[in-house]
Order: sequence, then structure tokens, then C-alpha cells
Amino acid sequence: MHAPIDRRSFLKTTTAAGAGLSRAASRLAPLLAAAAAPAPAAPGVAAPSAAKPALLGGAPVHTGGWSRWPQWREAWEDDLLKVYRSGKWFRGSDTRVEDFETAYAKLLGAKKCLATASGTTALMVALHVMDVDAGDEVIVSPYTFIATYNAILNAHALPVFADTDPATLNMDPATIESRITDRTRAIMPVHIFGMSCDMDPILAIAKARGFAVVEDACQAWLAEYKGRRCGTIGDLGCFSFQESKHLPAGEGGAVAGMSEALIDKCNSFHNCGRACGTNKGSGSFTRGNNCRMTQAQAVILLQQLGKLVEDTAVRRRNADYLGEQLRQIPGIQTMRLPEGSRPVWHLYPFRYGATEFAGLSRDAFMKALNAEGIPCSSVYREQYFDGLLDEAIASRGFKRLWSAQRLKAYRESLKDLRGNQQVCATTVALPQTLLLSDRAGVDHIVEAIRKIRVNAAALAKAS
Ligand SMILES: Cc1ncc(COP(=O)(O)O)c(C=O)c1O
Repeated sequence: MHAPIDRRSFLKTTTAAGAGLSRAASRLAPLLAAAAAPAPAAPGVAAPSAAKPALLGGAPVHTGGWSRWPQWREAWEDDLLKVYRSGKWFRGSDTRVEDFETAYAKLLGAKKCLATASGTTALMVALHVMDVDAGDEVIVSPYTFIATYNAILNAHALPVFADTDPATLNMDPATIESRITDRTRAIMPVHIFGMSCDMDPILAIAKARGFAVVEDACQAWLAEYKGRRCGTIGDLGCFSFQESKHLPAGEGGAVAGMSEALIDKCNSFHNCGRACGTNKGSGSFTRGNNCRMTQAQAVILLQQLGKLVEDTAVRRRNADYLGEQLRQIPGIQTMRLPEGSRPVWHLYPFRYGATEFAGLSRDAFMKALNAEGIPCSSVYREQYFDGLLDEAIASRGFKRLWSAQRLKAYRESLKDLRGNQQVCATTVALPQTLLLSDRAGVDHIVEAIRKIRVNAAALAKAS
């Protein structure tokens, strides 16, 4: 059995596999693989390979690893050292964090942006400012990193899951209405793997009911929906700059929005409740937290904004090509994207149909693909059964805030997330670093999957 690993350990493992590999060496990798492997198909050619799978003793399709992540450039070092040598490390000691906020807001087309210590703290700040309070309910996607759940639970609110649309991996807007109660306060769409949710129906429900919309855009830097960048469409949008992300600073996050007053409120809450900007008039302190970004984080982020734009274009180009190739393979279903949207591919997912692969289980398929030199993972499990929610609803606070009957019904309802169950059971995802490769690298992904399909019966027998 393939042991499930979380997305971050997966990203860590896969990117470490390519550590030390220069860009030039990665261009050489296909040539080395060609020398080692028995006649892989020519790039872009759809003919299936009959070569022996690596798992059964054949040569792997891809050798030499993939780009490492995060990526560092020597040219960035002086600026970072300047910060450390200056002794001005704290947000309030210099202007680097504000410089980043201005630049990132401009890149997103947001009115204003607030940098935070992490994506989780960005979500917590945004929920607080949108008045999500103890005893409220937030309708959210179940198919996400657990930080999304935690941000809601930390507000002593209940994450109520809309179902996942298996065709998109995102929240199915048609399942929102049935989750609404008199406690519902907000909707939190998650643009998973950098693919935008279908925002129009979500916004329409929110508008009709007076709900706030907080976008979890923690995986969706520069993703678009109908001409607007994800994270600027709802009331507030949140981003993560953790190490695995496309714009990494080790840790870091941001809240963006089109309302200066809301972002100023976010600023106050994230800075120990100090009055700020448009809400300075209030004069006094509000409740608050310390979710501030440091100057060094901001410098690292500022350095990478141009690279984010360049990398995004490369990932998009490769993903478009990969999608065209994968759609020709029976049993591989690529994702349906909302009309007018442009994803950024934090991971590249597809749904795997075992029946088209001679009954080869998803775990055995992934094992075979990994052996071919193509890292992949099943990403998220049904995490709502992992103990986190049971612990929350058994707590004194939650029992005080909801009736036993409501909490029991809530726990039962977790079994009804049929779309999400399907998604968790059939999704396979490739790390984003594979999309930074050259065309030959992308061809290797396709070639490896074809090779597994041709040999699926033998692989199934051996698994
Ligand atoms: C969808 C999603 N939401 C929230 C977060 C939390 O961000 P952070 O790790 O920066 O706290 C992440 C980070 O992995 C994420 O992927």
C-alpha cells in the first residue's frame, strides 16, 4: 500500500530529489534518459511505449530529477544582508514590508494588500474582520489544506462543507444553499491548486443572503477568473508564501482586497489592535493579534515578483500542452476549468480511472509513475475524519456554542460528501516543478503514463 503523505512532505521530497540539479543539467536529463531507456517515444508522439515499466526492472522514462524548489539567486543576497546588517528587522523599523504590499497589490490589481506572517494568519485576520465570530458557521470547501479548516475553528466558528465537484476539484456552488443555517456568516471558496472556483454563483448566493466571501487564494497567486485575479473577487482574499509556494519566503502571507477600509481593519487586527489608516478616527485599540511579516521576508518576496510572473507563464504553457496530451489517454481525466479562468497550477491534478488501466489501483499506478522518475501524490485525504473536527466539536467551547443535536447532525453530514469522497479516492497530482521543465520533460510525463497503461495488467499482477 502506498502510505499517504501530506502535500507538503510530498513537495519537500520531490523537490529535494532534484536538489543540486542546474537548469542546464535538467536540459541534459532527457538525453541521459534516452541513452538509458529502450527507445522512448519521440517528444509529442502519442504512440504508446511497450518498454518494460521501471517497477518491473525496465529503465525509468525520466532520470536526473527536476528543478529544485525554492529557487535562490545570488543576485538577491546583498539586499537581504542589508536588512540583517541594518538591525531593522521588525515591520515598523523600515519600509520593506510596505513596499512589498504596494507591489503585490499592483500585481494583483487589488486596491490594497496587507502582508502577514503566514497564509493561516491571513485567513484568521480576514475572518475576524468580516465579523466571523464565535458560534457562526462558514461554508467552505473540504478539499483543501487543513489550515483552511483551522482558520475557521480558531474563530470558534464551524466549517460547514459544501461538496467538491469531481470535475473541477473545487467547491460545487450547487451544494451551498442546502448548507445554509441561521448561523451562516460567510463563504470561503478555496482556489485549489491554483484553479479558480466558479465565483459568479458563489458571489450571487453571498449577495442575496448578506454573507461575506473570504477567498482562500493561498495556492492561487496570479490565477484569474473573468479578468480578475483570484483573491480580489470576494470581500477579502488570502495568500500563502510558505516555502513550497510559487512566491515563497519560508513563511509569509497576505490579505488583499478592493476596500481600503477593510484592509486597514486587517492591519489593525494583525498589529495588536492598533488603530490604522482609515480607521484611525476610532482612536482606541480594538482586539488584535500579532501576525506581522518581517522586513527580511518582504525583501525575499520583493525579489521574486518578476520571477513569479515568468514562472507562471512557463507553468501555463507546459500545463496546456500536458493537458492536450493527457486527454488522449483513456482513464486520465484532466480538470474542467470555469469559463474565463486561467489557473496557475500549484499542483497539476488529474483523476485516475483504474478500469481503463486493467484495474491497476491508484496506489499501484502512483508507485509505478514514481518509479518512472515522475513524482506524484494523492494529495488530500478525507481530512474531516482525521480527528481535528472531532476534537473541536468535543471541546467545551463548541459544546457551549452549539446544541448537541446540531453537532451530532454536523458530524453525520460529513459522511455525505460524495463528490469529495470520489475526488479523494481518484486524484493524482504532479508537483509544480515538473511544469518548469522543458518540453522533453513534459513529454516524459506523458510517455511514463502511456507506458504504465500498456503494461497495466502486468503491473496489477505484480502489485
Ligand atoms: C489552501 C491553503 N490554505 C491555507 C494555507 C495556509 O498557509 P500557510 O501555510 O502559509 O499558513 C495553505 C498552505 O499550504 C493552503 O494551501
